[in-house]
Amino acid sequence: MSIEPPEKALILIVDDSAANLGILSEFLANDGYRVRLEKDGKSAIEAIEVQKPDLILLDAIMPGMDGFETCKWLQASADFKDIPILFMTALSDPADKVKAFDLGAVDYLTKPFQQEEVLARIRLHLRLRSLTQTLKEQNQQLQKEVEDRIEAEAALQELARTLEQRVRDRTLELSNSFEELQNAQTQLIQTEKMASIGEIVAGVAHEINNPIGFIAGNLKHLEEAIGEILDHLQLYQNHCPPSNAEIKEHEEQIDLNYLIEDIPHMLHAMKLGVDRIGNISISLRNFSRADTSSKVLGDLLEGIESTLLILQHRLKGNSNRPSIKIIKEYNELPPIPCYPAQLNQVFMNLLANAIDALEEKYQTEDKQLKLKRDKTLEPPTIWIGTESIDDRGVIIRIADNGAGIEPEICDRLFDPMFTTKPRGKGTGLGLSISRQIVEERHGGSLTCHSIPGEGSEFAIAIPIEDLE
Ligand SMILES: Nc1ncnc2c1ncn2[C@@H]1O[C@H](COP(=O)(O)OP(=O)(O)O)[C@@H](O)[C@H]1O
Ligand SMILES: [Mg+2]
Repeated sequence: MSIEPPEKALILIVDDSAANLGILSEFLANDGYRVRLEKDGKSAIEAIEVQKPDLILLDAIMPGMDGFETCKWLQASADFKDIPILFMTALSDPADKVKAFDLGAVDYLTKPFQQEEVLARIRLHLRLRSLTQTLKEQNQQLQKEVEDRIEAEAALQELARTLEQRVRDRTLELSNSFEELQNAQTQLIQTEKMASIGEIVAGVAHEINNPIGFIAGNLKHLEEAIGEILDHLQLYQNHCPPSNAEIKEHEEQIDLNYLIEDIPHMLHAMKLGVDRIGNISISLRNFSRADTSSKVLGDLLEGIESTLLILQHRLKGNSNRPSIKIIKEYNELPPIPCYPAQLNQVFMNLLANAIDALEEKYQTEDKQLKLKRDKTLEPPTIWIGTESIDDRGVIIRIADNGAGIEPEICDRLFDPMFTTKPRGKGTGLGLSISRQIVEERHGGSLTCHSIPGEGSEFAIAIPIEDLE
């Protein structure tokens, strides 16, 4: 801590009495101080403005601007208020002393002066001033340090925030890429699976075709041949009625008349069966048609019909529920540039989900309403509607009056692996793959609308785009 040496301190003495000025300046100078003298307040202020003193000895009573006014002016000035002011006066009225201290004086000297006392007080106040200044400087230094630290802390916090944000962004990026990867993988597995199933199915369908062909061809000949044999038998019966007991017995044993009547029915049923196998084979081939690498013009109604035929066995009634009614509200659709086998997969997923939802509804309602079931429950139904919107696109709706979907899971239906079905039954991939096929491969949309307990509707919208 540096204290200004008293010898160098500049002291301004303001007094209208020349005698006082003389005495004071002399012993102060002798003590090593630099001294300036002024006779009144006004000239004192002018002198202070030129050179700032370290301490002021100020006479209280002076003509013109007196000590009190001078003190007031100095205290009001930001530049000079820190100069210690010692009042000097012969007055000993305590009110004056109080007034001086109120105005900002630091001490009071009463005339006549005791030389030693004046010097001691001056030294004390100079020292105090020097200490105050050092303190002030240290304070400023400290304050600056505090400010610097606050600034550094704010910068650190900002850095931490930026870092956190970067970590968050990166995590989001990572989880997005992970999700994309998962989707791509799901899609890949599914595409691979469908491709190999498709190949097998197409192969099987093709292989069945030949045998069906010759069964159908031979059935026709068989029908004719049996017709002729029956006519021939009839001739026998007319012209040579059996007298032989063995023949008669055999005729009764095999119930010949019934056989003659039934054989055409059997043949008819066989023909129907063969027709159906033929249709199924065509549907299988349609359904699994190996997809081209670019879009082809596809008949979506044919795709829906093939899918329905493949799902036929699941529509039939069972011990839990009556058979499922299919209501077709078809409007004609133009041929659509698309990947037909992939869209068939979408129809398959949506129809299978609708059947599951109908089954679930019957199972839960069945427990509560076992007896009233047939009366209270409307028959399980699936509606399939198609419409085309000018030449801009087509919409296919698949609706059911099944269990419906709770609003809180509506947003998650399309997430990969989301399923409400028991392990082994649901994979949770159907809707996610369907959405990928409709939205990413065909630029369309797949949306769901459902009322819990009443049913659900899924709408596929596909824009008509030019073939690439
Ligand atoms: N038609 C529907 N009615 C009611 N819920 C449905 C329907 N379609 C889909 N869901 C719900 O969406 C979930 C996900 O379907 P999906 O992705 O096909 O997977 P999964 O059928 O293997 O469960 C189903 O578990 C079911 O909860
Ligand atoms: Mg499903």
